[in-house]
Amino acid sequence: MTGKTVKLAIILAVAAAIILAIILAVSGRSEGDTGDTTQNTTAEEGTEISQNQPPEASDGQTPEGSGPLNTDINTEPETETGTETETETEEPYTTNEIDPSKPMAALTFDDGPSAATTPLILDLLEQYHISASFFLIGRNIGEDNYEVIQRMVNLGCEVNSHTWSHKDLTKLTVEEIQAEINKASDAIYAAAGIRPALVRPPYGSINDTVRSAVGVPMIRWSVDTMDWSSKDPEAILEEVQNNAFDGCIILMHDIYDTTVEASKQVIPWLLEQGYQLVTVSQLMEARGVPLEPGNDYRYAKPQ
Ligand code: NI
Repeated sequence: MTGKTVKLAIILAVAAAIILAIILAVSGRSEGDTGDTTQNTTAEEGTEISQNQPPEASDGQTPEGSGPLNTDINTEPETETGTETETETEEPYTTNEIDPSKPMAALTFDDGPSAATTPLILDLLEQYHISASFFLIGRNIGEDNYEVIQRMVNLGCEVNSHTWSHKDLTKLTVEEIQAEINKASDAIYAAAGIRPALVRPPYGSINDTVRSAVGVPMIRWSVDTMDWSSKDPEAILEEVQNNAFDGCIILMHDIYDTTVEASKQVIPWLLEQGYQLVTVSQLMEARGVPLEPGNDYRYAKPQ
């Protein structure tokens, strides 16, 4: 009887060992299969999705097809969400903040707009987060450059008048002067929905008749880059380097390729010297200079 008991015990022990081994094997495989299980689930989801997408179901039926299909389906909404998130979180464009206690200069561009070269100047202003003042010739404004003028406004630039046809105002009657001012103002309004606050008389030419007839503040300049004459980027840069001062108004023309090239050097040079680059109105406001109709302004030095 003792022998039977021993045999029984051995059988039970062996059976227990086998059962334990099976349990371990099963549990071990379960752990190892976790990934497979997920993949299976994914594949099933893929299949389910495929079934929900009848036109793509045929692709989804093959294992290879179900993978990419699944990826595509998951990626598309993510991409859309990503784009939406970017749009929502994208900060609106702003120009650098102005510190009235620090040096500043106003870049001014005359005789445009040009659909060819003005956008290149605007690219630079946008790149450096600075603004400038543009003095547009009314008759140069057309539907081909409305977008350029609207972009000036969007970039925080000042859209001003350089009269309708660039005549020397001192040689005109009061009525003719007013026609030059009003036609340009209407053209700018048609393009950008704003009226120009400032006028730059062509050639900086002003007399008492002009003062009384123009009806808005007039802006001349203190640094003449002679860009229209030299058409030489190095010479233009030198004019700025030799003549810039705190509160200066710099005259350039956004209708020349050479001025665009010069601006690529002039702008970083001024910024390196510590100048903030601002519009004429920002300069005058920062320096406490009131802009009054009939007066003309060439700079605004610190007080
Ligand atoms: Ni001009």
